[in-house]
Amino acid sequence: MKRFDAFAEQALYGPGGFYTRSRGAGTTEADFITSPETSNLFGACVASYLDRVWRELGEPNPFVVVEGGSGNGKLCRDIFLGVQDCAESLRYVMVERSDKQRDVALRMVAATCFTDSQEIPVAALRDLPHGQFTGVVIANELLDNLPPRIVKRTGTGWSELHVEDGSETWRSAPEDAQNMATAISTNAPEGACLPLQLKAAVWTKRALQLLDKGRLLVVDYGFRNSDQFLQLPRDEWLRTYRGHRRAGTPFSEPGSRDITCDVAFDQLPGDPLFQMQADWLKDHGLIEMTEWAREHWRNAAISPDARDVAIRSLLDEATALTDKEGLGNFVVAEWRVGD
Ligand SMILES: C[S@@+](CC[C@H](N)C(=O)[O-])C[C@H]1O[C@@H](n2cnc3c(N)ncnc32)[C@H](O)[C@@H]1O
Repeated sequence: MKRFDAFAEQALYGPGGFYTRSRGAGTTEADFITSPETSNLFGACVASYLDRVWRELGEPNPFVVVEGGSGNGKLCRDIFLGVQDCAESLRYVMVERSDKQRDVALRMVAATCFTDSQEIPVAALRDLPHGQFTGVVIANELLDNLPPRIVKRTGTGWSELHVEDGSETWRSAPEDAQNMATAISTNAPEGACLPLQLKAAVWTKRALQLLDKGRLLVVDYGFRNSDQFLQLPRDEWLRTYRGHRRAGTPFSEPGSRDITCDVAFDQLPGDPLFQMQADWLKDHGLIEMTEWAREHWRNAAISPDARDVAIRSLLDEATALTDKEGLGNFVVAEWRVGD
C-alpha cells in the first residue's frame, strides 16, 4: 500500500513511469497539448513579457530565465524567436526531469535558434539550479504534475488516500495532514475531498528563493481558493489523460496515463498577482500580433491560397489560447521579488 502522492510520483516519474517511458508521453502526438504547443503566439507573448520585465529590472546582463518543466522545449524556442530588447542579455535554463525530453529539447532549440553558433545561451538541467540571479522563473503546466496528497473529511477529522492493488483505500490521516487540511478548510462537509499540494508549494518556494530580483510566473489550471475543490467531485480536479482523452481511474496500470491535479493557488507561498490567461495574453500583445492576420484574411478570404489559410489558422490558435472554457481560463500567477 502506498500513500497517493508516492504512488503518483512513481507512476509518473519512476522506472516505466508516464514521463519516463520512451513512447513520447506528454507530447503533442501522444497525450495532451499545452499552450506552447497550441500556438507560437503563446511564446511570443511570453517573449514580450520578458522584454518588459528586463526593462523594469534595469536591463540586467545577464538576464537569466529559468523554465521549470520545460518539456519538449517549444516555449524556449518561441521565446528566443520572439524576444527583442533582452535578446543579447538572455541566458536560458530549461529544467526538465525527463532525461529524454531534456535532450530532445536542447537539440531542437540549438538547431532552430542557433544554427550558426558554437556556443548557445541555453542550458538544460534536471533540477532547479543553486544560487541567486536577477531574472525570471517560468513554469507552464508544471505544478499540476507535482502529485498532491489527498484527504477526505470524516465525522471526526480527515482520512488520507492510499493505493493498494490498483484500488483506492483510505487511512486515518497523520497529524501533519490533519492540521494542514483543517487550516486550509474549516468548513468542509463530511465526505468532501481536498488536495494538499506540498510539492507544488515547495517548488514555488525554491523558485522564489532563486531570485534576488525578478519575477516568478506560473501558468496552470486550478483555483485561487481551496474551498472550490470541495464543491466538485474529486475526479473533476484529479484527472488522468491518455491519447488526448480522459483516462479513468489513476489507481491502476501505473505509467499508462498522465495524472494531474488542479492547482490550489492559495496553498502556494507568497502573495502573487492573478490574471486569467486570456486577459494576460491580451495584455502582452496577442491582439496586435493577430491583427495583421485578421487584415490579411479580410483581403484574401474570397480566393485564399495555402499561405492565406495558414495565416487564417493563427486566428483559430489565438481563439484556442483565450477560450474561457479552456486554455483562456488558466490562471497566470506572478510573484514580484526585490521590487
Ligand atoms: C505537462 S508537462 C508541461 C511541459 C511544458 N511546460 C509545456 O507547457 O508544454 C510537465 C513537464 O514537467 C516535467 N516535470 C515534472 N516535475 C518536474 C520537476 N520537479 N522539475 C522539472 N520538470 C518536471 C515533466 O517531466 C513534464 O515534461
